[in-house]
Amino acid sequence: MAIKHFLQFNDLNRDEFEHVFERTRWIKSQFKSYQRYWPLQDRTLVMIFEKASTRTRLSFEAGMQQLGGSSIYLNTRDSQLGRGEPVEDAAQVISRMSDLVMIRTYEQEIIERFAANSRVPVINGLTNEYHPCQILADIFTYIEHRGSIKGKTVAWIGDSNNVCNTWLQAAEVLDFNVHVSTPPGYEVEPERANLYGNDHFEVFADSMEAAKGADLVTTDVWTSMGFEAENEERMRDFADWQVDADMMRVAAKDALFMHCLPAHRGEEVSAEVIDGVQSVVWDEAENRLHTQKALMEYLLLGKV
Ligand code: CP
Ligand code: NVA
Repeated sequence: MAIKHFLQFNDLNRDEFEHVFERTRWIKSQFKSYQRYWPLQDRTLVMIFEKASTRTRLSFEAGMQQLGGSSIYLNTRDSQLGRGEPVEDAAQVISRMSDLVMIRTYEQEIIERFAANSRVPVINGLTNEYHPCQILADIFTYIEHRGSIKGKTVAWIGDSNNVCNTWLQAAEVLDFNVHVSTPPGYEVEPERANLYGNDHFEVFADSMEAAKGADLVTTDVWTSMGFEAENEERMRDFADWQVDADMMRVAAKDALFMHCLPAHRGEEVSAEVIDGVQSVVWDEAENRLHTQKALMEYLLLGKV
């Protein structure tokens, strides 16, 4: 079988996502009923982190263990990765000693170069441009609560960052709409979001207009990892882009609220919304575990 990577959301097609979601449901139910499922016995996942993480590390490490395999954590601080070893060389070596690699890094180009030199599948655990595992979990969470996302409207409020770009890709693959509202100067760069048209994508200067009638309202931190130097300026620029109760009121009556976490209450979202009844953020976080287990199973074993 040809090596399949998950570097961007559109590396998988609709049919493959349907398979992964179906496997997620089964894997999750096995986990919930304490049934052992060890299809990846003797397989090793290497996780490389160049940025901080709680959920991504935990969900991949726990997930691999629950599938019968093991995982190794590497970071730039105490490996040769931080001392200038070429990405290509690291990929050759790491992929000869493991079955699967997950990377959280800066530019997407780094992960592309790694994958081009890897003998095993590579998963994007977040880059400056994309966060495909997050949207995999988010869409599964939407489906669990509300059924198919096809034809629905997602309102993205705030920074046009890695998570936003990934929602835009997902909308094209799974046929739903994204309304995006960012402050001036922080708009989506269509080439980054890999947009081939604007069939699934609409821009709104007014964040309330973007949220109007939406089935899902979502946001993320105003300052992503790697952009900390811009924090003060961003706090000023994004002040009017908070998801609050007034915004949730103009969304659809049964709208959900999502946030990939970590969140800053009082900045991109009010405490009332993230801790309120429409928020499904804890399900989203938990589903990182179940969806990534299904993803790892698919990348290593195909359609079982
Ligand atoms: N949402 C997410 O990726 O969280 P971590 O940064 O904690 O991994
Ligand atoms: N956009 C955020 C997501 C963190 C999970 C970041 O890149 O820091």
